[in-house]
Amino acid sequence: MVTQWALGKMIVSDELERLNFDVVHGFLTTAYWSVGVSRELVERAARHSVPFGVYDDGAQVGYARVVTDRTRFAYLADVFVLPTHRGRGLGALLLSCVLEHPELRDVRRFLLVTTDAHGLYERFGFTALTRPEKYMERLRHPGTSDDAEAAGRPDGSAG
Ligand SMILES: CC(C)(COP(=O)(O)OP(=O)(O)OC[C@H]1O[C@@H](n2cnc3c(N)ncnc32)[C@H](O)[C@@H]1OP(=O)(O)O)[C@@H](O)C(=O)NCCC(=O)NCCS
Repeated sequence: MVTQWALGKMIVSDELERLNFDVVHGFLTTAYWSVGVSRELVERAARHSVPFGVYDDGAQVGYARVVTDRTRFAYLADVFVLPTHRGRGLGALLLSCVLEHPELRDVRRFLLVTTDAHGLYERFGFTALTRPEKYMERLRHPGTSDDAEAAGRPDGSAG
């Protein structure tokens, strides 16, 4: 079932088939957390996530995806609004839709990783880890930057 929100001519939708991967891959392959990521990897990641597109008059201008079991855990990744459309509240709209989504709103723990957008996420209740000593991670290539993800490893960054 497709979930969709409309605000004037802006639409946020979780419909996979509606995504424009020219836009999604075009942005992500230049984003600091996924430089050079392949289109195949971007499409595979979307297929295995709950993907969200933001559309202005039908044209895609934003994206985010959530990796989740839809009950206890969710990980928000690859959040962006195209530069032409920033500063108009679309990032906030996108986050509201993600967190209100019927299959995500009751998820117990939402995680994300960000380099500089803490202020945006704090407005939606995200905080620094309360017990960071409890968390562990396993990186296939320790010591490399998140940019190494571009080689095809969806293991590092969020965006
Ligand atoms: C982050 C991003 C999605 C925000 O989209 P946007 O449509 O410009 O966001 P909004 O217009 O809804 O702004 C919402 C609020 O968040 C703030 N904000 C936006 N980006 C921010 C950032 N990087 N850090 C802190 N606050 C931020 C805005 O100032 C705004 O606050 P205000 O309402 O008090 O003015 C967009 O800037 C983007 O795509 N950036 C590049 C990709 C990126 O960094 N993604 C996040 C990776 S974790």
